[in-house]
Amino acid sequence: GRAASLTRPFVLRCRRAGQGCGRHYRAALGAELKQPLAFEEAVPRHLRPREVRVDVHFCGVNFADILACRDQYQERPQLPFTPGMEFSGTVLETGTDVSTVKEGDRVIGVSGFNGMAEECITDHKALWQIPERVPLREAAALPVSYGTATLALERQAHTQPGETVLVTAAAGATGRAVIDVAANVLQAKVFACLILH
Ligand SMILES: NC(=O)c1ccc[n+]([C@@H]2O[C@H](COP(=O)([O-])OP(=O)(O)OC[C@H]3O[C@@H](n4cnc5c(N)ncnc54)[C@H](OP(=O)(O)O)[C@@H]3O)[C@@H](O)[C@H]2O)c1
Repeated sequence: GRAASLTRPFVLRCRRAGQGCGRHYRAALGAELKQPLAFEEAVPRHLRPREVRVDVHFCGVNFADILACRDQYQERPQLPFTPGMEFSGTVLETGTDVSTVKEGDRVIGVSGFNGMAEECITDHKALWQIPERVPLREAAALPVSYGTATLALERQAHTQPGETVLVTAAAGATGRAVIDVAANVLQAKVFACLILH
C-alpha cells in the first residue's frame, strides 16, 4: 500500500477485466519509428515453456517508451513494435514449466517492450504477484520505478542499514521509489532534494 501510494500512476488503461478474451487482441502498434502508434488486432502466439500470458489491465508510460518511439532509446525495437515496459493484470495462461503463478493471479510485470496491448507474454521471472489490497492501476507503475531503485541501491551501491542515501531528483516515480526502498527496506538514512516550482 505504501509503495503504491508513493508512485505516480502514469498508467494507460489497456482494457477492462474480462473483456476481449477471444482469439485476437488489440495492441498499440508502431509500424515505423517516429510515427504515431495505431491500435491493431494481433493474433496470440503459443507460449514457450517458461512464459506466461497476461491479460493486461494497465500499462505504465515511461520516458523510455517515448524515447523508443522516437528512435532515441539505447535499444532499437524490431518493427513492427508495441511499446510498454511495465504492466499489471491477471494471468491468462502459463507455459508448461511455470509453477510460480497460475491462471487468475493478479500480477505486475516487465517486458522489454509489448506492454501496451490487451495481452502480453513475458518470462515467469519477470512477473510478481500483488496483494488484493493493491489496485491494479497503481500497481502498473511499480515495476520500472521500484526495479530501478532496487537495482541501484542493492545491486550497484550495496546500501547497508544506517548508511546515508542522497536522492538528488526526488520528485518523480523513480526518486520516490528510491526514497521508499532506501528508508523502509534497507533502513538507510535518506536526504531527498526537490525543486519547487
Ligand atoms: N536507468 C534506468 O534504468 C531508469 C529507470 C527509470 C527511469 N529512468 C530515468 O529517470 C528519469 C525519471 O523517470 P521517472 O519515471 O521517475 O519520471 P517522472 O515520474 O515523470 O518524474 C520526473 C520528475 O522530474 C520533474 N521534472 C521534469 N522536468 C523538470 C525540470 N526541468 N526541472 C525540475 N524538475 C523537473 C518532474 O516534475 P513535474 O511533475 O512537476 O513535471 C517529475 O517530478 C527519466 O529520465 C527516466 O528515463 C532511468
